[in-house]
Amino acid sequence: RSFRSNCTSKNTAYTPRTKQSAMARPSYVVSMDSRVCVCMVGLPARGKTYIAQKICRYLKWLSIPTEVFNVGTYRRTHHDAHPTASFFDPKNSAGEKARREAAMAAVKDMVNWFNKGGVVGILDATNTTRERRQWIARLCKQANVQLMFVESVCEDEDLIMQNIMDVKLSSPDYSGQDPEEAARDFRERIKMYEAVYESIDEKELTYVKLVNVGSQVVINMIKDYLQSRIVYYLMNLHIKPRSIYLSRHGESQFNLEGKIGGDAPLSERGMIYAQRLPDIISSQIQPGEKLTVWTSTLRRTIQTAEGLPYRKLQWKALDELDAGVCDGLTYEEIEDKYPEDFAARDEDKYNYRYRGGESYRDVVVRLEPVMMELERQENVFIVCHQAILRCIYGYFLNIPQEELPFVDMPLHTVIKLTPKAYRCVEERISANIPAVSTHRAKGAPATFDKPAECEVKAN
Ligand code: ATP
Ligand code: F6P
Repeated sequence: RSFRSNCTSKNTAYTPRTKQSAMARPSYVVSMDSRVCVCMVGLPARGKTYIAQKICRYLKWLSIPTEVFNVGTYRRTHHDAHPTASFFDPKNSAGEKARREAAMAAVKDMVNWFNKGGVVGILDATNTTRERRQWIARLCKQANVQLMFVESVCEDEDLIMQNIMDVKLSSPDYSGQDPEEAARDFRERIKMYEAVYESIDEKELTYVKLVNVGSQVVINMIKDYLQSRIVYYLMNLHIKPRSIYLSRHGESQFNLEGKIGGDAPLSERGMIYAQRLPDIISSQIQPGEKLTVWTSTLRRTIQTAEGLPYRKLQWKALDELDAGVCDGLTYEEIEDKYPEDFAARDEDKYNYRYRGGESYRDVVVRLEPVMMELERQENVFIVCHQAILRCIYGYFLNIPQEELPFVDMPLHTVIKLTPKAYRCVEERISANIPAVSTHRAKGAPATFDKPAECEVKAN
């Protein structure tokens, strides 16, 4: 993208647009015609729920209607909420019947959900026998839904124990119970499943088998683009502890003037932020730990990251949302020149595409390869822009589309995200250097008062 300091180089003759045309041609990464059931397979504590939730979050972020159907939740609702290991004994016919009923209820809800427009339904259960998988295959065929199994195999006893400690003891199955007794019972439960476990190898079924967190990946009969995207995503996942640091560039000259876009340099206060950043970041990184810094190709992020003593990489895909003909204008000027566009953006900011520019939805699509690479990496510090950071933040924090474009991303603040089993821990570290606010809430006036403190030096 080339720098456009004003919009006169573009054809800016104003023709009011209908709401419809401003939202035209939404960008999707896949056709919405396919319907896929992703069916998890694996012994307990193998990361199935973790994987199911990650796939769900990733696809929802890409606007693909996705939902997880967790059979354990159905079992707890309809049957014993705190079963002991004997409930899972394959010789326990009452337990077997209850588990089958729970699976049936989950599949039924999933099929109803597909019929209302669902695209990827994730069936989160153990599905560890051939018989169970054949049964699901029949149900999916009847419902005209493609079926793809995802198995997680893990033979690392220490990791399994770690998983039990991290998530199983806090499961509703064991609420209020002694942790040692709960861990013992859970190991018993695993043995019950092991007695009948058949790892997937049915040649006629579509599957991906992840062995020891993806150190080996077996794929069979993967058919279309959506399925292969899911496989590719799974191949990039790891579970090593790490943090992702996010920051906007330091305050820029354009920020001071209330102008959007452009390729302006940092303001004086922005430069001070750039100078303080190495200390802020080094206080977070332990000696010997690695960090990679990613910036956009725009001046203000490169200047901000300049003093950071780590390996750096520039991504064009991290450049700020392209405001098209509005690049270089203030919100007030946009409201004045393009009142209908201004209103349409407020009404559906996620989908609104600037004339000759982008929408938040477009940004998410262009960020997809960045997120894929981010999944593969360990500690990364991303220095980029307000709209881009909202999209990245939205991926990790599962922010609904209508809220995402309004998330507060203050200048001169580092956001530290640390992924945990089923959630992401967030910490905001302020550099305590004053800066203008570029946050405009939905429906707020477009006015921008150049603050008095901009004239003075930051302390
Ligand atoms: P259950 O059958 O009891 O529901 P589960 O297989 O769904 O168990 P999870 O609840 O997802 O297991 O376990 C979460 C833990 O698994 C997390 O701590 C996560 O780090 C870890 N994990 C994630 N992926 C894998 C993997 N591929 N292999 C082993 N462990 C994993
Ligand atoms: O104002 C700073 C900025 O990074 C602009 O360059 C960009 O157009 C804008 O933020 C994106 O935020 P919003 O989507 O809220 O207008």
